[in-house]
Amino acid sequence: MTESLVIDNIGSLITNDPTVGRGALGIIENASLVITDGAVEAMGPAGANGDTRIDAKGGCVLPGFVDSHTHLVFAGDRAEEFTARMAGEPYDGGGIRVTTDATRATPTDELHRLVRLRLAEAHRAGTTTIEIKSGYGLNVTDEARSLEVAEHYTTETTFLGAHLLPSEYEGRADDYIELVCNEMLTASAPHAKWIDAFCEEGAFDEDQSRAVLEAGRAAGLGLRLHGNQLGTGAGVQLAVECGCASVDHCTHLTDADIEALAGSDTVATFLPAADFSTRQPYPDARRVIDAGATVALASNCNPGSSYTTSISFCIAIAVREMHMTIDEAIQAVTLGGAAALQRTDIGHLTPGASGHAVILAAPSHHHLAYRPGVPLIRQTIGPLGAFV
Ligand code: NIG
Repeated sequence: MTESLVIDNIGSLITNDPTVGRGALGIIENASLVITDGAVEAMGPAGANGDTRIDAKGGCVLPGFVDSHTHLVFAGDRAEEFTARMAGEPYDGGGIRVTTDATRATPTDELHRLVRLRLAEAHRAGTTTIEIKSGYGLNVTDEARSLEVAEHYTTETTFLGAHLLPSEYEGRADDYIELVCNEMLTASAPHAKWIDAFCEEGAFDEDQSRAVLEAGRAAGLGLRLHGNQLGTGAGVQLAVECGCASVDHCTHLTDADIEALAGSDTVATFLPAADFSTRQPYPDARRVIDAGATVALASNCNPGSSYTTSISFCIAIAVREMHMTIDEAIQAVTLGGAAALQRTDIGHLTPGASGHAVILAAPSHHHLAYRPGVPLIRQTIGPLGAFV
């Protein structure tokens, strides 16, 4: 038996299909949205019928946010590290080892509880699809265990054994990469869709990162990469060369990096909440977009550089600090995130798409940047609600 849900009395419906509505976001005013058995059946004027009706009360309805970069499987707290940073200490990623110690020492059921709390927070903030990385296990057992936890909640799981050299491998980075590419990958790949590496001075260099990506490809995983977070480097060029779905951070880009991104299918994923929390400059999103590259915005929720699940916060920073238009920022957290995950079923509200939607307590999407810090998400309709 089919079940239909109607969201009615929508002030403005963002479809992300310019052929069905106004402007790049395909906005339909005074609309209703019919979702049947979890998929969009129709968009149209207000007043449609269905088994269940939600009154949007004139609010804006958008596709659910696609958060394509998070590190949700962790234990412990690094508030002191943040406080020290605000007092002038630099961020160098070294705190990853602190979280690794805490995560290794935490029982699996407690890791589940912590992930569910973060998912509930993300759901309340409008996220309906979420990518979750490992990267705080950094040994065979704990990387595989982190991914086993993550796969309970999302199909978008990423093996990040090459996040940082664990202390027990100090001075033996190549031995560690050998472990990541062999035993750790074998144990982790059954629970992962993607592989990732932190290609940055102080983490892993270009050759080490390439070895990880190639091993992941051979194991059937899709590729993504952390790059150009703390300075310029090989990350973006390597991601493009390897055909990564996404290169994430892109805070420090050269002209050649922008040109490479623009000539590729690799999405540039900006993580402005990390730049906020580490006092980095913000990426030059304007130049990247104007060059023609596809961009996404994601939360990068993790205990060190970006302890937030709020996509609205990322939108506000992107608009105020990175000079993205509000429409571009909305696209980056919906269609952009979907592109970074190589998904075509999410990020838009057109017939056949997943019926994942956000209802705002505001008449238009502009309010997400215009009213920063205000909880404007009235209701989120999507699968993460099951974990709340
Ligand atoms: O994306 N850059 C590497 N990884 C995370 C930070 C992790 C941490 O500091 O715990 C990031 O910012």
